[in-house]
Amino acid sequence: MNNIKPQLVLFYTDNSLLSKANILSEFTNCFRLVEVEPAGMPFYLRLDSIGLAIISSNFKPLYISEIYANLVSRYKNLKTELLVQLIKDKNIAKIWDLMAGLGKDAFIMASAGYEVTMVEQNPMLATILYYALNNNILPKRNLHLVYANSIDFLGSNTDTPDIIYLDPMFKESATSKAKKEMQLIQILTNNDSVSDDVDLFNKALAVTGRRIIVKRDNKQAPLVNTPLPSYTKTGKIIRFDIYNV
Ligand SMILES: C[S@@+](CC[C@H](N)C(=O)[O-])C[C@H]1O[C@@H](n2cnc3c(N)ncnc32)[C@H](O)[C@@H]1O
Repeated sequence: MNNIKPQLVLFYTDNSLLSKANILSEFTNCFRLVEVEPAGMPFYLRLDSIGLAIISSNFKPLYISEIYANLVSRYKNLKTELLVQLIKDKNIAKIWDLMAGLGKDAFIMASAGYEVTMVEQNPMLATILYYALNNNILPKRNLHLVYANSIDFLGSNTDTPDIIYLDPMFKESATSKAKKEMQLIQILTNNDSVSDDVDLFNKALAVTGRRIIVKRDNKQAPLVNTPLPSYTKTGKIIRFDIYNV
């Protein structure tokens, strides 16, 4: 992807951080590097001596390391994770998470031993993931990152995964009850063009030879009317719709 979005800014606080800032911005090619703290922006990235942070009028400076703090200990007991219980199959090796977001679900699947490719189209989120993976914040084991629109990714890939995993945004959850991570994704993706969830699902149907898993809020209908899920696995708040194709 090479769609320059000049409104995205990466502010580096010190000249010694310029080469690091350059590497970060080159991952998506969507950031303007600035040496002076920007004013009046809804959000931007700041690289300082502590690390990379999201600066927004909606919350206090949020370091990427804070987003992933305790991630490893939080998911120590993988056996209790619905997603892990669902996938448990010794024939499954390769998973494509085509809506990676902050990569939490991908991390859970990778920790369970699957080889997970995360695809994310939003340049802020892709840069956050890139930074986390390359600074020992998000364990790299079994995790790969691609910055792309997943429809394009599927179109340009001849490889086939065992599972395609989709976690579309759930707009109605933009309430105080929405988990902090989801609120953050909603803020960062607010300016993205209209959702292409159904197109992506249909494209995935044509590509995958095994299984598509779609994460839904319990209140939501399946993503499409046809086909209906082969089966579902329901938790307290979310459920997974599974399509064996
Ligand atoms: C609800 S979030 C996923 C959260 C993720 N499961 C996690 O654990 O953090 C949905 C993500 O899908 C991304 N997305 C939506 N459509 C996409 C597409 N066509 N290609 C790539 N990413 C897409 C959005 O930018 C957003 O980050």
